[in-house]
Amino acid sequence: MLRGLAIVFACALALEAQEAIEEPLPKENPYTSPADVARGQKLFFGHCATCHGPQGNGGRGANLARPKLRRAADDPSLFRLIRLGIPGTEMPETWDMTPREIWQVVAYVKTLGRSAVEAVPGDPRKGEELFLTKGNCGQCHTVRGRGGRMGPELTEIGARRSAAHLRKFLLDPVAEAPENPVPWAKYQAGFMQVRLTTKDGRRITGIRLNEDTYSVQVRDFSDRLFSFWKQDLVEYQKEPGKTPMPSYRNVFSQAELDDIVAFLASLRGE
Ligand code: HEC
Ligand code: HEC
Repeated sequence: MLRGLAIVFACALALEAQEAIEEPLPKENPYTSPADVARGQKLFFGHCATCHGPQGNGGRGANLARPKLRRAADDPSLFRLIRLGIPGTEMPETWDMTPREIWQVVAYVKTLGRSAVEAVPGDPRKGEELFLTKGNCGQCHTVRGRGGRMGPELTEIGARRSAAHLRKFLLDPVAEAPENPVPWAKYQAGFMQVRLTTKDGRRITGIRLNEDTYSVQVRDFSDRLFSFWKQDLVEYQKEPGKTPMPSYRNVFSQAELDDIVAFLASLRGE
């Protein structure tokens, strides 16, 4: 009974949220009074701050404290983005806010862009050199069309993650790795490390590219692609606590770390 009620309630919320996206949306945010902004801030703390930081300057989520958002040029597109999320990323859809509440969050997010841009110490040009030489990052990561494919493309990484988060990630990739699987959205291409053994005795460790009920596709650490029928496997193990991304804690000095973070932060896909 209670469960039935909960489902009805969830459906009502979902319906309400769906109505919210009915076009045309007003061109300008109808809720921008100081009281709306204050309410938007509360909602932001509750729904968004875990990923975007209490000041909105990013963490696991993108830095929103910028005058211009990459994916939301105006109020209606920001509304849509919050309502629908960004499919294929960790940015979730929102189904438990009314249209008015979403507009209030829009109003609050807009105030963030007026505060200072994140200052990053370090020299991005030196960082780029470290990326290609000492760090050997290009072996696994593509930037602007060049580099390896074992790790995610980094051409827009500076727009997606804060500098502080990138620094922490380079020191401790396992602790800071994107939640995998993310409950509400698939992490990009799902960089899950897997280990498998085939019936004829081959053992492979690599990154899972794709998986369905019957088959799995893997790229091994020598950049070879494999596709297996699951019925041909005697072992198939996901290793969520592991990643081929090495820690750079003992590789880079503090100054080098500043440089490489400055380089990553400068990668905004522009
Ligand atoms: C689970 C983490 C998570 C939560 C919760 C979350 N976001 Fe995001 N958000 C992200 C990530 C990650 C991105 C970057 C996606 C990408 O472009 O790859 C993002 C992107 C965005 C963008 C686009 C930024 C740009 O430069 O265009 C906006 C705007 C945004 N989020 C607003 C919000 C708001 C408002 C909320 C709360 C209602 C929220 N997010 C909740 C993770 C999250
Ligand atoms: C041996 C391959 C390998 C090398 C070398 C490597 N990475 Fe990675 N990196 C990965 C993989 C795989 C992931 C995905 C991590 C995961 O989800 O477990 C990743 C993830 C990342 C991320 C997170 C991306 C995101 O969306 O948050 C960043 C940033 C990153 N690497 C930067 C670097 C930098 C900078 C270097 C060099 C200093 C480097 N990587 C070297 C394989 C590598």
